[in-house]
Amino acid sequence: MNRITIAIDGFSSTGKSTLAKQLAKELGYVYVDTGAMYRAVTLFAIRHGHIGGERSNGEALVKLLPNIKLHFEYNDDLGYSEMYLNGENVEKEIRGMDVSKHVSHVAEIEQVRYKLVEQQKEMGKEKGVVMDGRDIGTVVFPDAELKIFMTASPQKRAYRRYKELLDRGETVTYADILENVEKRDYIDSHRAASPLKKAEGAIVFDNSDMGLKEQFERIHNYALRIIAKT
Ligand code: DC
Repeated sequence: MNRITIAIDGFSSTGKSTLAKQLAKELGYVYVDTGAMYRAVTLFAIRHGHIGGERSNGEALVKLLPNIKLHFEYNDDLGYSEMYLNGENVEKEIRGMDVSKHVSHVAEIEQVRYKLVEQQKEMGKEKGVVMDGRDIGTVVFPDAELKIFMTASPQKRAYRRYKELLDRGETVTYADILENVEKRDYIDSHRAASPLKKAEGAIVFDNSDMGLKEQFERIHNYALRIIAKT
């Protein structure tokens, strides 16, 4: 059976990665979380003092880009790949509020996008990949056989994220999370370089009032139909 490319884009906390992981597992495909790559670059920038507090120095970060090596490593126990920055597992650190606050600004830097998009194209060149992000159907794989654009109300998304962070033991408020979600939506969809938008031919999926099981079944069915025709 032929393998296809599945591109999942959409706003933050729409459950893209949960769905993409599940889909990849079911189809025996590779899952790539491109948001993790932008988050890892952001962590690198914070650690080197180029972003955070009042400071933000994109130029200094761009000069250091050749020193940033990213790779994913599959974790058998978790059933998905984890993000490594220069050989260090940074999966936990890149999900915290500090990185979330700055990542949209790092993702606006054209040279950062160029570097990561090249690596993403390479990772998906054999097909059999489910990749999620903001520009997968528009820039990374405009020819993907299946493109999904996921959305949900900012309030629902903030609430999901709030619960996720509380479960992980972080001290956060719902108001802070909602503000962060709305700010990121704005920056992600208004930036000059590869803004978040629905790709041509993408299926729009509003999951404000849809459970995970239903979402998975619908998208899995789309995928199976396309695979059968390919
Ligand atoms: O999906 P996420 O919330 O982990 O993504 C983190 C940030 O990275 C988000 O603000 C948008 C940006 N991003 C991007 O610009 N392009 C991608 N392909 C993936 C993420």
